[in-house]
Amino acid sequence: MAFVLIGFMGAGKSTAARELAAALETQPLDSDELLAERLGETVAQAFTTLGEAGFRAREEQLVLELLDAAEPEQVVALGGGSVTSAAVRERLGGHVVVLLEVSPQTAWERVRRQRGGDERPLARDRDAFTALHEGRMAVYEQLADAIVPERALGSAAGLTGALQGLRGAPRGTRLVWARAAGGQYPVFVGEGLLTEAGGGALQGLWPLDRSRSRAFCVSDETVAALYEPQLGELALTIALRPGEAHKTLSSAERVWQGLAEAGMTRADHIVALGGGVVGDVAGFCAATYQRGVPVVHVPTTLVAQVDSALGGKTGVDLPQAKNYVGAYHQPAGVLADPLALRTLPAGELAAGWVEVLKTALIAGGALWRSLAADEPVGAETILACARTKLAVVAADERDGGVRQVLNLGHTVGHAIEVVTGYGRYRHGEAVALGLLAALRLSGQEQLREQVRGLLLAHGLPVTLDGAGPDEVLAATRRDKKRLGGRVPFVLLRAPGEPVPGCEVQDSDVRAAIAELAA
Ligand SMILES: NC(=O)c1ccc[n+]([C@@H]2O[C@H](COP(=O)([O-])OP(=O)(O)OC[C@H]3O[C@@H](n4cnc5c(N)ncnc54)[C@H](O)[C@@H]3O)[C@@H](O)[C@H]2O)c1
Repeated sequence: MAFVLIGFMGAGKSTAARELAAALETQPLDSDELLAERLGETVAQAFTTLGEAGFRAREEQLVLELLDAAEPEQVVALGGGSVTSAAVRERLGGHVVVLLEVSPQTAWERVRRQRGGDERPLARDRDAFTALHEGRMAVYEQLADAIVPERALGSAAGLTGALQGLRGAPRGTRLVWARAAGGQYPVFVGEGLLTEAGGGALQGLWPLDRSRSRAFCVSDETVAALYEPQLGELALTIALRPGEAHKTLSSAERVWQGLAEAGMTRADHIVALGGGVVGDVAGFCAATYQRGVPVVHVPTTLVAQVDSALGGKTGVDLPQAKNYVGAYHQPAGVLADPLALRTLPAGELAAGWVEVLKTALIAGGALWRSLAADEPVGAETILACARTKLAVVAADERDGGVRQVLNLGHTVGHAIEVVTGYGRYRHGEAVALGLLAALRLSGQEQLREQVRGLLLAHGLPVTLDGAGPDEVLAATRRDKKRLGGRVPFVLLRAPGEPVPGCEVQDSDVRAAIAELAA
């Protein structure tokens, strides 16, 4: 099982292959270089002299030879178009396939800067180049076991180990390498990671060396009873009472004191086993205990797998306002098993689906089409949501601008949670109402109706009970995103086109909330 790097031209596969091979102490192989040697001319020249079909036939032959002969630790970089061959795609099945992402802009600039770049037949026309990139990405994504963003390979400590871990992981496990200002880490999504008997799958992918760093588990009583034995040896388990009402400073204090009494040091790490409440509290304790220890998230709700375990936001609620005390603290790794959602009560699953819906509205494209068609949410959708969130966080870890789009529907949603005492609505249910308000404020009549229909089909609330519009409006003013007098809203121009930082009149916000309460 070799490591095979795929991706569009200009993704930097040759450089990445050299770096990865150096880390693995092997020699890299590069199909473009070997093909040029065999044909006695550059790849660009051969494309012209042989014609595309002739070129692809020679390329296919060489790549199949390479894949068949590759040694287990070998690193092979493939030419961007080689995956257009069905035989190559099939043969990739026996290897760990790593997609190196590159944006069409970066790819274009890099290819045009290369010597003879403007002569490359597929890089003459920018629009055609962009269209080719989009088409190819769909193929690469289907094939990839691991997805690595631009500029992450090489310098990324831990990536090599994560890729090696994939070889022993349950079939179908995928890795997304997360990159943010505060750290880089592996995100694994795989059926069986947590639920497979014995928990060996999870431990095989563990991002930290457990012989040197002891694991201290923070969970809640429900989740600990179900899954704690799967985590292997633990120095301690602290099980909080379940639910949002316990996302408090007193829970954090219980964790800090428990860790201190058990002698946890900075060489050790916390494991957050549970939903968003556990993840936020455990992450906050990890950010603050002895000024910061690593945390590994093992998310067990849909909310946590698609959203809260990723991106490093941690914290607790105050009675006055939600998530008011917290810190940014990127995890050491995230291990998500979609099969763990089988034990999740239906109401929790539906509430989690709202975060999927929110992500799809932000992402647009294939993810939105899948949600709009109400297709079932499985590992693929979880992975797509994770990638959307991670891409946003990579661009803006600390909510300075673009990350605010992730708050779509959350300003009113959080306000509803606060005024109803964190008990009446689940987080996702409150966000469902918040999304309807945000779509009203965005002037999206038709989309609002469509979303309302989807919410109803999932048994989610579309009307607000237990709070009046004035109370909710007042609570939005305490939103921690407030800058000066007003809370900036995220509005939506269309699926895939969120607009952060919008000024909205109080009277319009009140009307959008009153409509829910009607
Ligand atoms: N940090 C972030 O970026 C971020 C993003 C989104 C949401 N959040 C936060 O996440 C929280 C909501 O998370 P949540 O919806 O996961 O709630 P949760 O953690 O309260 O979990 C919901 C319930 O499901 C139970 N449960 C969890 N996993 C289970 C399983 N596999 N089987 C059976 N029962 C299970 C829990 O015990 C709990 O009762 C909110 O506090 C929200 O603010 C944070």
